[in-house]
Amino acid sequence: MGRLDGRRALVTGGASGIGAAIVTRFRAEGAETLALDLQGGDVTADIGDGAAVTRAVEEAVERLGGLDLLVLNAARPCVGALWELDDATWDDAVAINLTSVHRFLRAAWPHLKASRGTVLLTGSVVGLDGSANQAAYCATKAGVVMLTKTIALDGAPHGVRANCVCPGFTQTPMLDAFLAEQEDPDAVRAYAEGLHPVGRLGTPDDIANAFVYLGSDEAAWVTGVALPVDGGLLAGI
Ligand SMILES: NC(=O)c1ccc[n+]([C@@H]2O[C@H](COP(=O)([O-])OP(=O)(O)OC[C@H]3O[C@@H](n4cnc5c(N)ncnc54)[C@H](O)[C@@H]3O)[C@@H](O)[C@H]2O)c1
Repeated sequence: MGRLDGRRALVTGGASGIGAAIVTRFRAEGAETLALDLQGGDVTADIGDGAAVTRAVEEAVERLGGLDLLVLNAARPCVGALWELDDATWDDAVAINLTSVHRFLRAAWPHLKASRGTVLLTGSVVGLDGSANQAAYCATKAGVVMLTKTIALDGAPHGVRANCVCPGFTQTPMLDAFLAEQEDPDAVRAYAEGLHPVGRLGTPDDIANAFVYLGSDEAAWVTGVALPVDGGLLAGI
């Protein structure tokens, strides 16, 4: 018996990093799961494009025969202080990291309502606490946390739950790209490791395990939560 037996799932950003780990764990727990990504997944779409989001949800529902678990995980990093960001950079971060949540919910709501399904989102520790030089990323991740709560409140009368996982620094291609941009990547990696009291970076499976729990019936009474999975980073100084 899998913990997600019989569930039908769509995972954005499912071709890499945390999303790929969620896809693998969901399948291992019995969920029929489609990965959505720019390339390399089962459904191809740019989540910054509203029409593409609608088409992707329709395609997923047709292929799966419905939708029980919608995992909105894809995002893009965005480096810079607020005053350094031009309009295009800001608009792109907001479109991909935040507006996409609105568009997915609008397209998927009838199917989630029909299945009394669950929405799971990937936030970040920097959506719960600030971080220098990442103004748009922090603001959009904070928005994801608040949208999680509003989906939970508006969805509850319909049996739809919504929860958000907020990872600490996790070993993925996104983190590698971030480190590669730094003057001294090894020093920044060592600093990042040191931020986590357990003494290491997260693995994609560390994060995916929380998604399995929140997507399963074990979490039937859990909704509106932003769960840090962060090796103790937010526990205190
Ligand atoms: N890695 C970390 O340290 C960390 C920490 C906190 C939060 N997160 C969050 O975890 C999530 C997954 O990140 P990751 O580290 O696995 O990154 P990743 O780069 O390994 O994977 C992200 C995936 O999202 C896809 N994607 C990006 N923009 C897209 C778009 N417009 N349309 C469709 N797909 C798109 C990419 O192609 C990629 O496959 C993101 O929401 C990220 O913000 C990551």
